[in-house]
Amino acid sequence: MAKIAVLPGDGIGKEIVPEAQKVLDVVSKKYGLEFEYQEGLIGGAAIDATGEALPEATVELCRESDAVILGAVGGPKWDTLPVAQRPEAAALLPLRKKLGLYANIRPAFLFPALVNASSLKSEVVKGTDLVVIRELTGGIYFGEKKREDIPGGQKALDALVYTTDEIKRILRLGFETARQRRGKLTSVDKANVLESSRLWRETAIEMAKEYQDVEVEHMYVDNCAMQLIRWPGQFDVIVTENMFGDILTDEASMLTGSIGMLASASIGGEVALYEPAHGSAPDIAGQGKANPLATILSAGMMLQYSFNLPEALEQIKAAISRVLEAGYRTPDIMEEGCQLVDTGTMGDLVCRYLSEEKV
Ligand code: IPM
Ligand code: MG
Repeated sequence: MAKIAVLPGDGIGKEIVPEAQKVLDVVSKKYGLEFEYQEGLIGGAAIDATGEALPEATVELCRESDAVILGAVGGPKWDTLPVAQRPEAAALLPLRKKLGLYANIRPAFLFPALVNASSLKSEVVKGTDLVVIRELTGGIYFGEKKREDIPGGQKALDALVYTTDEIKRILRLGFETARQRRGKLTSVDKANVLESSRLWRETAIEMAKEYQDVEVEHMYVDNCAMQLIRWPGQFDVIVTENMFGDILTDEASMLTGSIGMLASASIGGEVALYEPAHGSAPDIAGQGKANPLATILSAGMMLQYSFNLPEALEQIKAAISRVLEAGYRTPDIMEEGCQLVDTGTMGDLVCRYLSEEKV
C-alpha cells in the first residue's frame, strides 16, 4: 500500500487534484497497486482553518507519505496579509525547503494535437520536447532579505547565494537526465554579470569532463529566453538556478499550448512533491474551467519517479494524446472545431482512454 499526501490548496487546486486522483485510481487498478490518500491543509485554506499557511501536521503528513500531490496555493483573499504570512512565501517555499526538494523537473512537451493552440507559430513549436531542471531550494528565493530606512525612502536587499555543493548536485541531475534523453545539456546562467553565475559556470565546465558523452553548452539567461521562442527544438535538457528556472518555465509552458499543460516533479529530498507549474487561478476558480492535464501529468511523473512505473506515465501521455486528438479541449487550449469540456469531463475522458490502453 502506498501512502499519498493530497494537498489541494486553493482556487483551482481543489478542482484539478481530484481529477489526478481519478487517473491514479485507474492506474492502481491496472497495475494492482493500492493507494491510500490522506488530505492535508495548505495555503489560504490552511490559514482559514488553522491560522497558519503550512501547519506542522501537513509537513508531518508529507514526511510520512510515499509521495505528495499538490494543487496550488494563494488567492486575493490572502494577498493583503503581510508578505511573510502569504500562502506562497509561508507555505510553498518552506514546504520545498523542509522536504529538501532541491530539484524541480518541468518537462515542456508539445502534444502534436495542440500544435495550433500555442500563441507561437506551429512551425516554431512543432516537435518541442525539452525539460527544464530548476534548482529549487537556493539562490535569491532563500538568501538574506533586508529592508532599511534611508534618506528619501528605503533600501531593499535580496541576496543570491549558491555554494559549490548546491550547484554540483543540481548540475549532476542535469547531466544524468541529458544522458537518458538526447544527450544535450544547456546550462543557463548570467555569468557576464553575476558572481554566483560565474561559480555556476566554472562548476559546470569542471563537471562536463566527467560527462564526455553529453554535449554541453553554456547560455546566458537573456539569450535563453529569446532562443526558447525562436527555436525550441534546439533544447533537450536545460539546467538553471531557482529564479531563472521560475521565469523560463512559465515561458516554456507557452510552447506546449498553455500553462495548464506544464507538469512538475520536485525531488531530491525525503519525499517527492508533484504539482502543476501553474498557480491557483482565482479568476476562473470554481467554474469548471481549469485544465486538469498539468496535474494529471504531474501524477504521471509521480508514478515514474516515486513508484518506478515509467510505463504508467507513458500510458497517461498516450491517453491524453488520444483525448486531444479526438478534439476535446478545456477553455485554455480551445480551438475552432473542437469540443469544449469542463474540468471534470476532461479528467473522465483521460480515465476512459487510459482504461482502454493495454498494460
Ligand atoms: C512556481 C511558482 C512559485 C515559485 C511561486 C508561487 C512562489 O511561481 O512554482 O513556479 O516562484 O517558485
Ligand atoms: Mg513560477
